[in-house]
Amino acid sequence: MSEPLSVADYERLAEERLEPGPWTYLSGGSGDEWTLRENCAAFARWTFRPRVLCDVSEVSTTTTVLGNRVDLPVVVAPVAYQQLYHPDGECATARGAAAAGTGMAVSTFSTRTHEEIAAAAPGLMQWCQLYVFQDREVTREHLAGAAAAGCSAVVLTVDTPRLAQRERDLRVGFEIPPDLPLPYARATIGDAPQNPADQFALLDPSVSWRDLEWIAGEGKLPVVLKGVITAEDAELAAEHGAAAVVVSNHGGRQLDGAPATLDSLPEVAEAVAGRVEVYLDGGIRRGTDVAKALALGARAVLAGRAPVFGLAVEGDDGVHHVLEILRDELALTLCLLGCTSPDELTPARVQRAPT
Ligand SMILES: Cc1cc2nc3c(=O)[nH]c(=O)nc-3n(C[C@H](O)[C@H](O)[C@H](O)COP(=O)(O)O)c2cc1C
Repeated sequence: MSEPLSVADYERLAEERLEPGPWTYLSGGSGDEWTLRENCAAFARWTFRPRVLCDVSEVSTTTTVLGNRVDLPVVVAPVAYQQLYHPDGECATARGAAAAGTGMAVSTFSTRTHEEIAAAAPGLMQWCQLYVFQDREVTREHLAGAAAAGCSAVVLTVDTPRLAQRERDLRVGFEIPPDLPLPYARATIGDAPQNPADQFALLDPSVSWRDLEWIAGEGKLPVVLKGVITAEDAELAAEHGAAAVVVSNHGGRQLDGAPATLDSLPEVAEAVAGRVEVYLDGGIRRGTDVAKALALGARAVLAGRAPVFGLAVEGDDGVHHVLEILRDELALTLCLLGCTSPDELTPARVQRAPT
């Protein structure tokens, strides 16, 4: 293939480069993978309502998330085990995100520490994604370490009381290599090779709304609640002290049959009514996807698989290029829609596609 031009090009190249186990773990979803497909399909159910003669000689993709300036409204989502995709793992992703002028959420199952990531990409907006272990001491230490390393928010993922059945992984017998460094989880897990379901079995399924308050108080960092898809939970998130919510179904990897995140976004945005910031993830592959999510109420999106396709193909340069592609596509979309900045993307810029 010639120079990759799109996220889809990077996806094809990543599949060629990766061994079947890591590729399957990256690309797959849960159950029948209905939700996985829906996340992408939902974007095609909306079309644009462009306005003309708006003076789009200067278009900016810059915005803020939790008060931090980002050059594009796309933050890198937490993705576990990144050394499976490149020897530098999360440090390479961090360099790519920083080069693109955005931030990154680092998984509890990261293969690098927050300090290593901060050193690799000075000035990076780094968020700590938290899974709560049954052993709360492990989680306390993780939070304290993240704050000390300069993380500016905690992303508490709440859609994973158990890991869902991912049949593609089971078919290829995917296991986490025992020598993969997992600084925030290895002490709990031990050294035996394991499949991800065994590792996630150590998480605490009893986590409740009280723990959101505990985590917000303990870490003294703003908490981004990831995995909210109903108005009811969005309301509770705002009441219990979240600073932001991510409308997420874990990229179609948890509850199969959950709606596409784009379909859940309007009810969540309406419920919080500006009290907390709203982000969306799931199926972001084009700048037009970003624009539709912003028009329907998201302040920014998170991208999970897309930057990791870049990571697998070209390390930090690949992550950077994938994010630049999304930024260029978003800038073009804004221009052709008659918008000069992300703030101008309102529901009036989209309409349901004819069925
Ligand atoms: C390989 C892989 C690993 C993931 N690991 C985590 C994780 O450790 N923590 C988490 O909160 N979400 C995790 N996610 C979910 C992502 O943060 C995000 O919700 C999802 O990938 C968004 O969908 P997209 O991949 O279509 O962009 C993971 C997703 C993938 C694909």
